[in-house]
Amino acid sequence: MKRFLLRQDGNGGCEAVAEACEIPTPGAGEVLVKIEACSLNYRDLLMKSGLSASGGGGDVVPLSDGAGVIAGFGEGVSEWEEGDRVALTFFRDWEDGAFDMKYHQAARGGSCDGVLAEFVTAPAHSVVQVPEQLTTLEASTLPCAALTAWHALMERSRSVQEGDTVLCLGTGGVSVFALQMAKAAGAKVIITSSSDDKLARAGELGADQTINYREHEAWDKQVKELTGGRGADFVIEVGGPGTLERSLKSVAAGGVISQIGVLTGFDPPQVSLFPLVTHNADINGIYVGSRAMFGRMNAFLSGQGIRPVIDEEYRFDDALKAYASLEGAGHFGKIVVKV
Ligand SMILES: NC(=O)c1ccc[n+]([C@@H]2O[C@H](COP(=O)([O-])OP(=O)(O)OC[C@H]3O[C@@H](n4cnc5c(N)ncnc54)[C@H](OP(=O)(O)O)[C@@H]3O)[C@@H](O)[C@H]2O)c1
Repeated sequence: MKRFLLRQDGNGGCEAVAEACEIPTPGAGEVLVKIEACSLNYRDLLMKSGLSASGGGGDVVPLSDGAGVIAGFGEGVSEWEEGDRVALTFFRDWEDGAFDMKYHQAARGGSCDGVLAEFVTAPAHSVVQVPEQLTTLEASTLPCAALTAWHALMERSRSVQEGDTVLCLGTGGVSVFALQMAKAAGAKVIITSSSDDKLARAGELGADQTINYREHEAWDKQVKELTGGRGADFVIEVGGPGTLERSLKSVAAGGVISQIGVLTGFDPPQVSLFPLVTHNADINGIYVGSRAMFGRMNAFLSGQGIRPVIDEEYRFDDALKAYASLEGAGHFGKIVVKV
């Protein structure tokens, strides 16, 4: 079989190299998954450039997100059969309950092996059934981006509901999933982008109002105007230090900012947190989610008939082109690799 490995490049970063190896044998309690598709996340660029916080420091199979079929299992596995369609969880061992830092020590494609391979083994507790209406290609987009959006909107503080306004920043994987889920829950969605074409696509997906953040640098003022001065009940904060100040100025009274991303880097933000006080607002750190959340999200996606938005598809041998495209940020939604 073939797989990719992230190898230190000697300059603080990594290169992804293809190699041939034996198909792994599942141990007790493990399943063998024939991977059919993987998807890329911004984190995978951070991993490759040596900037991710969840790197293990050694050779690791890249990418957290993949789906395929069960091709075998070890002793003691009773819940899966050959041919079952499954997606892998981002955290190998966060099954349910509160987060524990030990789960961070086994984050796929970072501190443990990921899925950019023809076959992988995985503990049976670390895969979930693919929703019936989705292909494995579509399901490969769910483990990180979709679950992060779900966790932010449905699992922490309170669940988004009809009448809420959700602000999504940009049109990458997390934000487009948040747009789809928020609309399905009956909320109003405001989404920002650097591209009018992408905003038009967001409108086709149901976005109620759009803001080009290049044309409107002070996009928080637009958010306030579009909400009659109230602001957004939920802010999907994927930007980090460069966007946090405007997100804080965009939040409604009693609203929630989900602190998710670092698209503008890792510098300490120079912002006043006072809007949190004056608005009785919350800021939640969100780090993907548990397997139990994944199950609840899949039920919601099935019930609402939500299909992931796949913008680009690459062959396994062209995985490096997929990385390059993600870096170029011309995509809307998700980029996938067919294995
Ligand atoms: N905490 C977690 O568990 C978690 C999970 C998933 C992702 N993340 C983080 O969340 C962020 C997004 O991840 P992703 O995989 O969805 O990324 P992605 O698909 O690569 O999204 C990139 C898009 O973000 C938008 N963007 C870039 N800079 C922006 C800015 N200054 N303001 C607003 N939008 C901006 C751009 O959209 P336009 O082209 O439309 O402008 C760009 O195309 C990353 O920092 C990632 O590391 C964190």
